[in-house]
Amino acid sequence: MRVVAVQDYRALSVAGADAIAEVIGAKPSAAVAVATGNTPLGAYDELAGRHRRGELPTARLRVFQLDDYVGVRPDDPRSLYGWMKRAFVDPLGVPPERVVRLAGDAADPEAACAAYAQAVRGAGGLDLAILGLGLNGHLGFNEPPCDASAPTRVVTLTEESVASSAGYWGSREVVPTRGVTAGMDLLLAARRILLLVSGASKREILRRALLEPPTGALPASHLQRAADVVVLADRAALSEELSGGTLES
Ligand code: GLP
Repeated sequence: MRVVAVQDYRALSVAGADAIAEVIGAKPSAAVAVATGNTPLGAYDELAGRHRRGELPTARLRVFQLDDYVGVRPDDPRSLYGWMKRAFVDPLGVPPERVVRLAGDAADPEAACAAYAQAVRGAGGLDLAILGLGLNGHLGFNEPPCDASAPTRVVTLTEESVASSAGYWGSREVVPTRGVTAGMDLLLAARRILLLVSGASKREILRRALLEPPTGALPASHLQRAADVVVLADRAALSEELSGGTLES
């Protein structure tokens, strides 16, 4: 695992874009799981600029949605599919037929999860998983407790996740209580994982995720056992122990 410290959100966005562009440059048909949330937005914006300038070919990219709410249609602007489309797929010019949904609105969401997992495996696994860190240590919607082999599935959202989505939904009462998420099994098997972390609110959970023994109570701690992880974090998100750089694991 490599922990890369950058000064602030702007630097995080540029370095995040560099890391993503590196994977796409080496393999234009890369299979990439794309996080929503606020943290990666700057990096996506930076990538969109590079795409517009003709510096980032995306016609062959394969995009996999990371997570969504159950029962929310993809054309609902509050769906995470809609978020991913606005923030990544459209500005980067990814052809719609190369986007694999994780259909939380399906009549049988568990079957949709199985189909998604099959699609990832059919693609030969993920080349890159772009992830953010939940305040409770979740990755995608892999809520605690969750072990490293947790499959793509329907999950009940924790109180903490519902509360942190309240702003996005307008009020806590209307936030869906269930989600679908790419499994820890698929994410941890990605050939590269890029975890983007910004801000003081994530400092303590990031410290515990990287420095305490891996535990299902903190899903992101399973990253310690993944093959190729780059944690890109700004100064505000890094505790003193982590500010130094490379972490051997
Ligand atoms: C959300 C999403 C995750 C996201 C994380 C962090 O609940 N389900 O996919 O990465 O929480 O979000 P943010 O980057 O806004 O802090």
